[in-house]
Amino acid sequence: MSSGNNNPIGVFDSGIGGLSVANAISGLLPKESLIYFADTGRVPYGPRTRQEITDFSFEITRFLLDHQCKMIVVACNTATAAALESLRKQWPDIPFVGMEPAVKPAAEATRSGKVGVLATLSTIRSERYAELMRRYAANVEVFENPCIGLVPLIEAGQLNAPETIEQLKEILTPMLAQQVDTLVLGCTHYPFLLPLLKGMVPADCKIIDPAPAVARQVARRLEHLSLAAKPEHPAEYQFFHSGPVADLSFFTDIPWFIHSVKSSK
Ligand code: DGL
Repeated sequence: MSSGNNNPIGVFDSGIGGLSVANAISGLLPKESLIYFADTGRVPYGPRTRQEITDFSFEITRFLLDHQCKMIVVACNTATAAALESLRKQWPDIPFVGMEPAVKPAAEATRSGKVGVLATLSTIRSERYAELMRRYAANVEVFENPCIGLVPLIEAGQLNAPETIEQLKEILTPMLAQQVDTLVLGCTHYPFLLPLLKGMVPADCKIIDPAPAVARQVARRLEHLSLAAKPEHPAEYQFFHSGPVADLSFFTDIPWFIHSVKSSK
């Protein structure tokens, strides 16, 4: 039995996308307090340089550590690809959990041998992604799309709007024409489009949302490090955002206490 640590878990993303991960964590670990940082003043990260994304990730991590977070979940594929290694180097005693496009499970699941990856430009261009492809995708064909413009639509709560549907059609049509039967959601914003996506692909097309697997990884790390909250601990949920934010009820049922903060750039 672990000794118990009731400090919060810090979770961050460029915007509200990481709520797909925070929702999975709070569902699996209802005793854990969460502090979420949505960098909505600087979203999207996808078109930014690695250096910018790394600087932002450092700044947000400092903020979360100042708020006594016991673990940091980088709930953003783009920030993970750009900054996770440097974050771990800078804070070797802090446990970090990151995201990665689910190329491995997709390569195992596909029957047509063709996989579609929806991720940001920065993720697709990253060394981390190239390494994933080398390790797991040698025997499958992968079709990527950087989904330019999709994150701002999701941020604006346009989860079922004609522009969103139009954009998804443009992304999916060429993939489906190539017999893609497995789709990887390689950006934490995209699970909010799952209801739409499911209606736009054949019923047997598998869509992989990595959030549940990341929540299980958080649980394993907490247990292993004896950092899990005590069973009687009442969880608290703080949500910080650095810019405009849509109605959170589109994205989460968690009773967040909401704070607005300024980011430095
Ligand atoms: N949610 C993010 C990800 O998982 C980033 C989206 C963006 O800001 O471009 O990659």
